[in-house]
Amino acid sequence: MISPFLGRLGFTLLFALQLAFAARYPSFGTVQTTNSSGVLNAVINNTASSTNLFDYRVQADLANLVETLQANDTDIRVVLFSSGNKEFFIAHIDVDFFLPGYESPLPFFDPGFPDMTFPTALLWNISQLPQATIAMVEGRARGIGNEFLMSCDMRFSTTSPSVLLAQLETSFGLNPGGGGAMYLSNLIGRGRTLEYVLSATDIDAVTAEKYGWINRVFDNSAAMKEYVHTLARRIALFPPAGINGTKFGVNAVSRPSREVIVQKAMAVIDMLAASPATQAYAARFLKATNNQSIGELELDYGQALLALYNVTEEELKN
Ligand SMILES: *[C@@H]1O[C@H](CO)[C@@H](O)[C@H](O)[C@H]1NC(C)=O
Ligand SMILES: *[C@@H]1O[C@H](CO)[C@@H](O)[C@H](O)[C@H]1NC(C)=O
Ligand SMILES: *[C@@H]1O[C@H](CO)[C@@H](O)[C@H](O)[C@H]1NC(C)=O
Ligand SMILES: *[C@@H]1O[C@H](CO)[C@@H](O)[C@H](O)[C@H]1NC(C)=O
Ligand SMILES: *[C@@H]1O[C@H](CO)[C@@H](O)[C@H](O)[C@H]1NC(C)=O
Ligand SMILES: *[C@@H]1O[C@H](CO)[C@@H](O)[C@H](O)[C@H]1NC(C)=O
Ligand SMILES: *[C@@H]1O[C@H](CO)[C@@H](O)[C@H](O)[C@H]1NC(C)=O
Repeated sequence: MISPFLGRLGFTLLFALQLAFAARYPSFGTVQTTNSSGVLNAVINNTASSTNLFDYRVQADLANLVETLQANDTDIRVVLFSSGNKEFFIAHIDVDFFLPGYESPLPFFDPGFPDMTFPTALLWNISQLPQATIAMVEGRARGIGNEFLMSCDMRFSTTSPSVLLAQLETSFGLNPGGGGAMYLSNLIGRGRTLEYVLSATDIDAVTAEKYGWINRVFDNSAAMKEYVHTLARRIALFPPAGINGTKFGVNAVSRPSREVIVQKAMAVIDMLAASPATQAYAARFLKATNNQSIGELELDYGQALLALYNVTEEELKN
């Protein structure tokens, strides 16, 4: 029998080798993976950011993972995404992305999809992975964090008050550029989508479940994990061709098309991001959040954004 130490060492070596050969982009260690019986657990844990920001680090690590999962030689059939930060599943994109002088080790446009910005291509690729993709949400997911959830096949969460979902882009003078509001309108309908997205309002887990934004909510983390792990292991019994084939058809009718995302979401955000109003608000946001650090504004953005607009809840009511 292999000693636990050797087993661990072997795993570490294998993991290191796999990264060395497979990774197309630099690795930052923000997405930790383990797998067994065809189910891959991917924990998003961006320790460079107290809000689990969707910055270039997370994007690079997810892109490397996506490349592995796209390969036909993987035995993975289900991918479970969760977060290592209990307050933030993913706060939002690194807002610096929209500012002049932004520097990143990643290309602005995807080398494989030159008509798509890197994060847009990443979310598109996640939406059509051959595996079933399931998000277990604990913490806030706003902006591209919610768009990430939309690009997954299923979403589950706890009823914790830390679970808050939102498309916050309109408050920046932007639109959800990865197509998040389009996916959302397929889940919850046009009226509710526009109610929440135009007002950049946070939705809590219980309401999100009621509307169909989240598949199902659970009283606690253990109950969620038990349900989702059982579901994942069940799906992973089945031949991969059936999983991929079923997703192919459902995607065809319930996902915005590539052209629609590129022309009606991505091109629009690229145009709007340059506007003086957006640039001024982004600068103010970065200052007020101490560069997107954990604090009242990030924790409670749906309410706290009013301060950035110099109004109070009371004033809105009158
Ligand atoms: C699954 O885990 C094994 C080690 O147990 C590893 O060799 C393999 O690369 C992993 N697969 C993925 C897709 O990470
Ligand atoms: C702001 O935070 C992002 C994400 O952690 C980081 O990449 C960037 O360097 C920070 N900017 C400043 C000015 O500290
Ligand atoms: C996987 O197989 C599909 C269908 O044959 C093919 O289009 C695709 O290029 C393959 N992917 C990789 C990474 O080899
Ligand atoms: C996330 O990273 C931090 C810092 O390395 C670590 O303490 C924590 O255990 C990680 N969380 C998970 C769920 O992996
Ligand atoms: C998305 O997948 C395509 C292959 O279908 C690849 O060319 C492209 O680089 C990928 N981009 C990301 C960010 O995953
Ligand atoms: C998934 O199914 C579609 C439709 O049959 C096919 O074009 C694609 O190559 C399949 N992908 C994989 C990885 O098998
Ligand atoms: C709110 O007030 C600040 C400070 O006077 C000002 O810089 C900012 O432009 C105002 N914001 C809005 C949206 O009116």
